[in-house]
Amino acid sequence: MKKSEICILGGTGFVGRYLIDQLSKRDVTIRVPTRHRQRHRNLLINPKVNLIEADIHDEAALESLLTGADVVINLVGILHGSPAAFRKIHIELPKKVVNLCNRLCVPRLLHMSALQAGSANALSQYLRSKGEGENTAHHLSSHKLKVTSFRPSLIFGEGDHLFSHFATLLRLPMLTIPLACPDARFAPIHAADVADTLIQSIDRAESFGKRYDLCGPKEYSLMELMEFTERCIGVRRLIVGLNESMSKLQSKILGMLPGQLMTMDNFLTMQLPSTCSGPFPELFDIEHTPIESVVPHYLGRKNQQVRYMEYRKWTNRA
Ligand SMILES: NC(=O)c1ccc[n+]([C@@H]2O[C@H](COP(=O)([O-])OP(=O)(O)OC[C@H]3O[C@@H](n4cnc5c(N)ncnc54)[C@H](OP(=O)(O)O)[C@@H]3O)[C@@H](O)[C@H]2O)c1
Repeated sequence: MKKSEICILGGTGFVGRYLIDQLSKRDVTIRVPTRHRQRHRNLLINPKVNLIEADIHDEAALESLLTGADVVINLVGILHGSPAAFRKIHIELPKKVVNLCNRLCVPRLLHMSALQAGSANALSQYLRSKGEGENTAHHLSSHKLKVTSFRPSLIFGEGDHLFSHFATLLRLPMLTIPLACPDARFAPIHAADVADTLIQSIDRAESFGKRYDLCGPKEYSLMELMEFTERCIGVRRLIVGLNESMSKLQSKILGMLPGQLMTMDNFLTMQLPSTCSGPFPELFDIEHTPIESVVPHYLGRKNQQVRYMEYRKWTNRA
């Protein structure tokens, strides 16, 4: 990759961390806007990163962030929220980003979507808004702006949203764990492999204008993933898979509680399999990391203090 100025929206998040780690080894400077600069002190010590406190929904602030960028990567996304929040984050923001990229002559935009986004059968606000945002990013781009979208299944890695939360839940002193949507299907992909794919695509002309489904090497049900987590952390619980009506009920109740561990919208998202119909795009040279080779290490090695902090973060999520 040639020397580049890269702006990563949502770069402070889980995937962003992996992307910045890999990009930092290259000849780049990386602008990362955040709503809370002090929460990401780890990025402040990275000499390649310029961490900027900004409101990316404000057009003037966004314009200043994108001005002069060679590549813009939009990773901003939410799993829970009101219909207005999904619209703002997944549709209006990509629209502002692509319009500004066109106006500011930014040549390259990578857009992070999700598997099944925009599918005709998608009922959740998450998948519908993600699909509309992805279409917007492609349809509004001019011939000078090369857009590529990525549609991953569940992404795993240290600090991920699934295994880390499952581990926290399984470590609670409960004999029985009721699991909603136990048959939901996933093909988890490692965050480092997603980051690598994005980086490889930057200069590959064959990827311009394309949308890529990204899956890991193997498919699992949600129940299998929870049982795998159980083995990784060495606890034994009775995991009870809930039927459809009980899954709905649990989602409704949890959605009303602080932290929203699961919502009706998540339930609707999981009605579609988060799996790929074909092989991994062969354009990218990726040696896949299976869950079995890394998850036991990052779940197993945590000390009590880290687990306690995770538990607090998890229960305080707003
Ligand atoms: N993780 C997965 O399994 C998975 C699977 C499929 C697709 N994806 C997609 O991949 C992308 C990255 O996922 P991730 O897991 O890295 O997400 P994440 O950890 O939740 O990070 C998202 C980032 O977006 C920013 N953000 C969130 N809400 C915002 C708001 N209202 N206004 C402005 N910025 C906001 C946050 O930055 P600040 O708090 O610093 O402002 C946060 O660091 C998302 O688009 C997601 O939908 C993820």
